[in-house]
Amino acid sequence: MKLAIIGAGNVGGALGLAWAQKAGHEIFFGVRDPKAEKTQTLLRAIGGKARAGTVAEAAAFADVIVLSTPWPAAEAAIRAMGTIKGKIIIDATNPLTRGPDGVGLEIGHSISGGEKVQGWAVGASVFKALNTTGFGNMANPVYIGVKSVMFVAGDDAPNKPKVIDLVGQLGFDVVDAGPLRNARLLEAHAMLWIDLALARGQGRDFAFAVVRR
Ligand SMILES: NC(=O)c1ccc[n+]([C@@H]2O[C@H](COP(=O)([O-])OP(=O)(O)OC[C@H]3O[C@@H](n4cnc5c(N)ncnc54)[C@H](OP(=O)(O)O)[C@@H]3O)[C@@H](O)[C@H]2O)c1
Repeated sequence: MKLAIIGAGNVGGALGLAWAQKAGHEIFFGVRDPKAEKTQTLLRAIGGKARAGTVAEAAAFADVIVLSTPWPAAEAAIRAMGTIKGKIIIDATNPLTRGPDGVGLEIGHSISGGEKVQGWAVGASVFKALNTTGFGNMANPVYIGVKSVMFVAGDDAPNKPKVIDLVGQLGFDVVDAGPLRNARLLEAHAMLWIDLALARGQGRDFAFAVVRR
């Protein structure tokens, strides 16, 4: 599959590497400076399956676009994509802000980042996923033989199996978390992981899993 990843940082880099190596997908990173040394290093690590260009070039290349920019850059990145009618966008961002109590969510009870992204991405189908755990877990989601969980929320029922399959190829136990409005829950869930990792001593090497009877 042809995948665009907008933002080639911790999350974008981990996802591009994993999808290329585990599933053989073609990766096109949409970045502000395709020639930047860190982007070139990432392309070399992935090998022949990856390239980098502008955000518009990456979006035009792919049917599925992953948004992995910092939250303050999300709207500009979507506007820079150009025509995205009929495309799938997987929104991995979290609307983080830093206040007097440390890192928190900028929005959440009545609107989510995922719903805002859908509002900007006119004509595209937005799914919220790949936001609820750290980038290290995206590279390797399996702990002692147990798959950690990744939730997918979105309103486009016909395309949801495609997104669930794509996320599953990374090695996650994928759970359909309902409509896009449930991004409000997934972004809060992400905040729990972040708080436990960064403020409660868990570090980055832990993940949530779903156990079933
Ligand atoms: N870090 C995690 O473990 C984690 C886990 C789940 C979700 N998230 C979410 O995922 C997003 C990315 O996090 P990250 O840790 O990967 O951040 P990061 O390492 O800072 O990477 C962000 C990337 O976005 C690029 N970027 C910034 N503005 C852009 C724009 N206007 N157009 C295109 N690309 C742009 C940056 O490029 P430049 O080099 O040009 O600045 C950089 O490559 C955030 O929203 C974060 O909340 C993070």
